[in-house]
Amino acid sequence: MTQNIDSTLQENRLFPPSPDFAANAQINEAQLLSLYKQAEDDYEGFWAERARNELAWHKPFNTILNSDNAPHYHWFEDGELNVSYNCLDRHLADKADKTAIIFEGEQGDTRHISYAELHRDTCRFANALKAEGIEKGDRVVIYMPMVPEAIVAMQACARIGAIHSVVFGGFSAEALKDRIDDAGARMLITADGGHRGGKIIELKQAADKALAHCGDSLEKAIVLKRTGHDVTMQSGRDIWWSDATEGACDECEPVWVDSEHPLFLLYTSGSTGKPKGIQHSTAGYLLGTITSMKWVFDYQQDDIYWCTADVGWITGHSYVAYGPLAVGGTIVVYEGAPTVPDTGRFWKLCEDHKVTVFYTAPTAIRALMKCGDEIPNKYDLSSIRLLGTVGEPINPEAWMWYHEVIGKARCPIVDTWWQTETGANMIAPVPAVVAAKPGSCTRALPGISADVVDEAGNAITTPDKGGFLVIRKPWPSMLRTIWGDDARYIDTYWGKFDNRYYVAGDSARRDKDGYFWIMGRIDDVLNVSGHRLGTMEVESALVAHPRVAEAAVVGRPDEIKGEAIFAYVVLREARPKGGIDEALTAELRGWVAEQIGPIAKPDNIRYSDNLPKTRSGKIMRRLLRTIASGEEITSDTSTLENEAILLQLQGKE
Ligand code: WTA
Repeated sequence: MTQNIDSTLQENRLFPPSPDFAANAQINEAQLLSLYKQAEDDYEGFWAERARNELAWHKPFNTILNSDNAPHYHWFEDGELNVSYNCLDRHLADKADKTAIIFEGEQGDTRHISYAELHRDTCRFANALKAEGIEKGDRVVIYMPMVPEAIVAMQACARIGAIHSVVFGGFSAEALKDRIDDAGARMLITADGGHRGGKIIELKQAADKALAHCGDSLEKAIVLKRTGHDVTMQSGRDIWWSDATEGACDECEPVWVDSEHPLFLLYTSGSTGKPKGIQHSTAGYLLGTITSMKWVFDYQQDDIYWCTADVGWITGHSYVAYGPLAVGGTIVVYEGAPTVPDTGRFWKLCEDHKVTVFYTAPTAIRALMKCGDEIPNKYDLSSIRLLGTVGEPINPEAWMWYHEVIGKARCPIVDTWWQTETGANMIAPVPAVVAAKPGSCTRALPGISADVVDEAGNAITTPDKGGFLVIRKPWPSMLRTIWGDDARYIDTYWGKFDNRYYVAGDSARRDKDGYFWIMGRIDDVLNVSGHRLGTMEVESALVAHPRVAEAAVVGRPDEIKGEAIFAYVVLREARPKGGIDEALTAELRGWVAEQIGPIAKPDNIRYSDNLPKTRSGKIMRRLLRTIASGEEITSDTSTLENEAILLQLQGKE
């Protein structure tokens, strides 16, 4: 494997933080060194001290880390706390009137919500959930537009110990149904619709379709009126949010839960056709979001923090709904697309709301970079002091543009590597101390033992040699298991090296300075616009179409999206003439959008009589990737069962 992941990228520019930034930062070099030293000398003591200082406990913990049942690790397990209490109640004494959320809808409507108001709304909604019979441990699926009520719903679940599972509003009815069933959810929280890209996203319609087909765990749906357009409400099942909260009490005593109580499930793609319900804990998860808010985002009381991620993704959990609120910050929440009414919208939002910390994905940076410098240059971006990126490796060109045109060469950029599974930032610079290199996520944070190992599991010490990215020791915000499939948890993340390390599924290298460079996924997971998609998921969707016999899906490099989806399809009927059938291609793209969601639509579909297989019947994906990227085939194809198929696959016949 490691021969295939030799690195080609060489980037030597170094960007130290400006003296101005460093002078005002929360963590200076001496402090960072002392954190590293403490973590090195007394790993458990290091995390225990953070947990005691950063979290408000109802009952303090005594046990720090329990590894008896490794690779299931329990952190702070005999303590009791509540996440919503930590995010809201504990700020009421001194920050009741501080703005927690600055919301802007796509159509320009804005709302400022204070901590006192967010607390009140959360309590009311938590009481509404209780009135509908939702109890500690019940699963609640949230399928909402990016509006403050999505955060209220998450916080309310946390408040009563219910386990939420947020499903991104861009996922289809089919995907929603699968997630409701897998989680065994009793309740769905949704909206009539949301505004995005100048259109209404028909959430309730999709929810109705999902509910018509899902199993009997689901009893009720609470529906927020957002767009006000007509939707059908099924009596006995559907309740308007406003009715559910009417007369509900403004106070709701938090339900104190164990540190290890599951806070949420979040489904993410893996290398099989079935998404995994990543299960996170209460205390450890929240701790990871808080420490990273301080270390990586240099959180300061007067920051206006804007992470552009939707709450449907882990980034929207950790850096919208939980981390920034747990530290008492002010966040910006924007409902819509970056292109409405024009591609200056993000920069206008930064100007209007005086954003100080801006965190987004490389795909958005690349897309906005293409629109030219004149657009951001029209806006006053002087409030911004720190920039961040997440989701995929950022190419140096986009990094430089972000640095110069958005950051005016003043603001550090934190390139944060982490995953749905890790819960919080893992490898990222502490901005006042660690000089950035464009395209590198730099160093592991204190208490995070990231490393790169070879096929045998030995640390790679040769600079720039690629290998498997692993985490050697458990950390508090790590996933606890895969919901309902513990065997898959062990197999996917621990199996490769006999349960010794957590295996991230990425390849990486370290340069001569010890900086990490992420090279990409080593499993069959694509990274399309920073979103994870399993090739198998798209394949399963394609073969579910009555006209499709077989499909193989690979990624091809794409300038904006990072990776684009390339599908090779074998039909049950004869191959279309010349391999072209535009009507069918459009139908299959629409079909995949219905099965998974529009983000999974293949960008290319190529028809062939067969797929390239070895004599043992294995599809040669590497070959398909070469063809999809338009490169010459240099590997030996003589082991192919059906070498003649190559011309069709290349679109030459
Ligand atoms: C990729 C998103 C390079 C990586 C938080 C990882 C990155 C996957 C970076 C997780 C980064 C994330 N540089 N690659 N800074 N951040 N990735 O679960 O392949 O949606 O395994 O979590 O995104 O994606 P996920």
